[in-house]
Amino acid sequence: MKPLFLVLDGVDGCGKSTQAKRLVARFEREFGARPLHVREPGTTLVGERLRAIVLDRELELSARTEALLFCAARSQMLDEVVAPALARGTSVVCERFHAATFAYQAVAGGLDEDRVLQLLTQWAGAPRPDLEVILDLDPALAAARRSELGDRIEAKGLEFQRRVALGMRRYAERSERARVVDATGDERAVEDRIFAEVLRAARG
Ligand SMILES: Nc1ncnc2c1ncn2[C@@H]1O[C@H](COP(=O)(O)OP(=O)(O)O)[C@@H](O)[C@H]1O
Ligand SMILES: [Mg+2]
Repeated sequence: MKPLFLVLDGVDGCGKSTQAKRLVARFEREFGARPLHVREPGTTLVGERLRAIVLDRELELSARTEALLFCAARSQMLDEVVAPALARGTSVVCERFHAATFAYQAVAGGLDEDRVLQLLTQWAGAPRPDLEVILDLDPALAAARRSELGDRIEAKGLEFQRRVALGMRRYAERSERARVVDATGDERAVEDRIFAEVLRAARG
């Protein structure tokens, strides 16, 4: 089987980290090879430095600058980590990718959608994911999952997350390798839905 580049995306709290871990374990059980698990931004030294800038509350970044920084971190990760892994036959599971930049910086952040997609495909376009899973969960439900850990959600935060969720679905309509997966229900049920898509992608 050829190595697969698998992406998990969706609003904050939809279950990406939970499902990425489950997918890595499930993939290893079913196919006998453990995928590399990476997360954006980060993963590379350059990515970690860019992540620190993106998260720094003392800085005021425009949506455009954010899009460029995320694209830069992604480009570095693709060259430094993803391409070499695939070349040696190792599959990759990645949390967050183009759908996030499209949803947060374009749809929710107000940038032109076509131009953001062009930036991503032209400057962080290869290797291309075999499958982009968009975990679909009502942002209010995602917030409730997080609030079990004590988070407080403000109305404005939820409104923003709703635009992000809309952006994720809009991305899925535009990317032929994106699949919207229902993220409601228990972890195992969501894992099964994701894995069904992985099997489909593996068959090509
Ligand atoms: N299917 C699920 N049902 C209920 N709670 C879940 C489910 N999946 C994840 N969670 C919980 O929701 C919270 C957010 O999950 P997480 O995987 O961190 O989301 P993300 O990485 O997308 O922000 C965590 O507390 C996690 O344990
Ligand atoms: Mg997470």
